[in-house]
Amino acid sequence: MGAVGSKQHARVPKVSKLSDVYDDNENSVATRYDTLVSAFKTQFEGEKPKTIARSPGRVNLIGEHIDYEGYSVLPMAIGLDVIVAVSVALKEEGNVEEDEAEATLSIANVDGEKYTPKEFPFDHEQEVDVKSHHWTNYVLCGFKGIFDQLKKQNKLESVLESAFMKRVKKVMVMVDGKVPLGSGLSSSSALNCAVTVALMDAFELSFTKGELSELTCLSERYSGTQSGGMDQAISIMGEKDLAKRIDFNPIGAMDVPLPTNLTFLIGNSCAVSKKAESAHKHYNLRVVECRLAAILMAKHYGEDIEKAKTRVTLREVADLYCNKGDLWTALGAVRKALNEGSYTKKQLENDEGLGDLRKIFDCENNEAFNVVLQKNDTFKLRDRARHVFSEARRVHEFQKICEGQSPRYAVSGPIYEHWCKVIGLVPDVGVASDDPTKDFGHPMYGMGKEDALAKLMHLSHESCKTQYECSCDELDELVDAFMSAGALGARLTGAGWGGCVVAVCESDIAEEILADVKKSFYEKRFQSGVANIADETNLLFKTAPSAGAAILHYDDEKGVIV
Ligand code: GLA
Repeated sequence: MGAVGSKQHARVPKVSKLSDVYDDNENSVATRYDTLVSAFKTQFEGEKPKTIARSPGRVNLIGEHIDYEGYSVLPMAIGLDVIVAVSVALKEEGNVEEDEAEATLSIANVDGEKYTPKEFPFDHEQEVDVKSHHWTNYVLCGFKGIFDQLKKQNKLESVLESAFMKRVKKVMVMVDGKVPLGSGLSSSSALNCAVTVALMDAFELSFTKGELSELTCLSERYSGTQSGGMDQAISIMGEKDLAKRIDFNPIGAMDVPLPTNLTFLIGNSCAVSKKAESAHKHYNLRVVECRLAAILMAKHYGEDIEKAKTRVTLREVADLYCNKGDLWTALGAVRKALNEGSYTKKQLENDEGLGDLRKIFDCENNEAFNVVLQKNDTFKLRDRARHVFSEARRVHEFQKICEGQSPRYAVSGPIYEHWCKVIGLVPDVGVASDDPTKDFGHPMYGMGKEDALAKLMHLSHESCKTQYECSCDELDELVDAFMSAGALGARLTGAGWGGCVVAVCESDIAEEILADVKKSFYEKRFQSGVANIADETNLLFKTAPSAGAAILHYDDEKGVIV
């Protein structure tokens, strides 16, 4: 069972009013759906959509790069989403020509010039061409994921043999996305999730939100990124007015009420983060480094080397050996188990006794890891592990503070207490250190809730920048711009290496901060052409927790009901 408040057993809601999902002006939302439907009819020669679904992007408030290590994260769904219309044309019974024709999956976008259409065979076993980076790859991911889930549930044969599936002639998919690409707001997962939900409904299947979250997490890996499950889980399970603590193994989403006097702001750094294209030197490399760190930690605790090589996540090792997963203990252990700086491949294979790394990462069958090992020779393990354990701790603290616990308790822990004793400080007073390279004792005793949350965000950014090395100059500049404008805290959000910053401020000065950041960060970019002033409202905006995935009632006579 997941945490209390989890919604993983529920189904994606079928809504009949746009206001159940959107806060924006209903007329403009309705117009967008009308445009989707007319683009569908034009592209598919008068066919009407059978199902319409939507799934949103997300902003992660805290907990970066720890989902794939098994630790909880704290995102919220945003108002920007992907909407998808789907229809299934069936073969006419008794029509021999149609019976023999190969069924197809035809995919198009409302913005057909930028996102060109593509047609694939209706075959769930086809491979996703990871080298092409075409936008329809994510649609294929969603399509394949549905059949993987059926297989997992031992239903694949019976569904494929069903009268409905056998008669499929053509599956038609029309997409409209509002989540800016490469922005770190998870446009790819919003697309994958919206497509999966729409196809599920059009194929007359029904999965729970938990099943959908897990299947979309796995299916997105066909695109070439070995990502964790945060983006898909919040896109599916997000709710209006609530941030969520997303847990893994098993998946769950626990409500986290945010302080009502605070506003969250998003700013796009204008550095495009191409997650799939740069995965071998950024995202997937970090996944490899964390796994190597987990293996060496298990070895440090005396595990037989062959056993240690089966360890996958840092959490697995910390749960076994670090005082049942106590994060302060884990942070202490990192210093002993892992060397500072980088390890070379040779060092890991020979001196540490891991043998052929390609075998550990099953490179014969996993092209993503194969490329990482081909293109990199050095791996930083200590810094990556320190980031993961300290960030997991910050998520825990952030949630507790949101729930009303006093910040001074948020930093307690056996090692912290012990360390305070060693250096002669009273734990309740804390340790006056702002240095994020120190693992322990960022004191928040006596701090207000707002300042403490902001401080956690600040420490998270510093850790991403210095230990995980997933920031970039533009993100750091934007964080500074928000802070100089009077935000309480700011940090990169999402995978990093470009994309967006999330900042938090007192609600009454939100507009002032936006104006200030526009001046200090964006105006020069508008002038130089790095950013387009027409996109202003998508580059810098206020955000609030929004609804997750939904299926929209569609009636061809009345349209999507408003
Ligand atoms: C991407 C991935 C997520 C997560 C974040 C970093 O968005 O898709 O699973 O790992 O990066 O926190």
